Amino acid sequence: MNENFKLDIKRRPRRLRKNDSVLSLCEENRVLPSDLILPVFLKEGRNGADEISYMPGVFRHTVDSLLRLCDSLSKRGVMAIAPFPLVENSKKSIRADEALNPKSLANRAISAVKRRFPEMVVVADVALDPYTTHGHDGILDKSGSWILNDETVEVLCGMSLAAAQAGADFVAPSDMMDGRVGAIREVLDECDLQNTAIMAYSAKYASAFYGPFRDAIGSAPKGGKRGAKYLDKKGYQLNPANSREALKEAALDEDEGADVIMLKPAGYYLDIVAKVRENTSLPIAAYQVSGEYSMIVAAAKNGWISLERAAAESIVSIKRAGADMILTYFADFLAK
Ligand code: PBG
Repeated sequence: MNENFKLDIKRRPRRLRKNDSVLSLCEENRVLPSDLILPVFLKEGRNGADEISYMPGVFRHTVDSLLRLCDSLSKRGVMAIAPFPLVENSKKSIRADEALNPKSLANRAISAVKRRFPEMVVVADVALDPYTTHGHDGILDKSGSWILNDETVEVLCGMSLAAAQAGADFVAPSDMMDGRVGAIREVLDECDLQNTAIMAYSAKYASAFYGPFRDAIGSAPKGGKRGAKYLDKKGYQLNPANSREALKEAALDEDEGADVIMLKPAGYYLDIVAKVRENTSLPIAAYQVSGEYSMIVAAAKNGWISLERAAAESIVSIKRAGADMILTYFADFLAK
């Protein structure tokens, strides 16, 4: 090694990586607990929470244990949740009637949380999959292979109204039917719910990464007359190969009155987050979905990566791409 070897360069970017204090001063993005929304799973009954086997560290909560969770979340500064119900089989039907029940598990949970924690933001998912026997987000046609758009939107409007009346701050249509944002806005306004906001899942991809979620709420799509064991959701969710289509969907939802544009999944779709960021002035939410969570947790459980660091990195990447708020099952863990 030649001791006198010196590069003749003026620019040395590493000066700004000298120590943690300098790094911190130069940090471009920082995730706060208040940027996060925790998706939570609900079940009936009074017994405590039970852990979801495909998602270690994530539990199905009863309304009582959800209230305890909200208490600890608010102490850590996480002020938003998105509940998803595990609906009992006896309450599922072809037309998802239970979705309209003002006393459904989801709606009871929403009102209990808002009563006890008025500052906690509740994002109510609007789609029929927890409520249909076949697990699809909408009403199936006679052939059993196509989801009817307008018939589904009519049910979604009623479902949104019930969630808004229960006290939800946002209704979040995750069904990907055409025209639902405008129709929901109209119904909410007619019923004097002008202040209930719409967080539209604008670009929701037909993703393999929803697997653990479908296990958690028992909504894996089944049946159909094409003989397939699982009917996929490609007839309404977006093709993962497309990005222009996401811009089109986001523009339509904005036009129809969406208040927040949601994109999902997040980690493998950072290009979509960045592109939509450049095309809208609305806030963007990105959803780090169940499969993204489970992969990180599984690798960490094997000792292959650090859970803390991988979880934090996955989230700051989503923020860096342009998301204002992030739905993540790590919300609680990261805030700790
Ligand atoms: C259904 C819905 C899904 C998720 C949120 N809402 C699953 C699906 O479309 O099948 C997935 C969330 C996750 O995987 O964490 N409307």
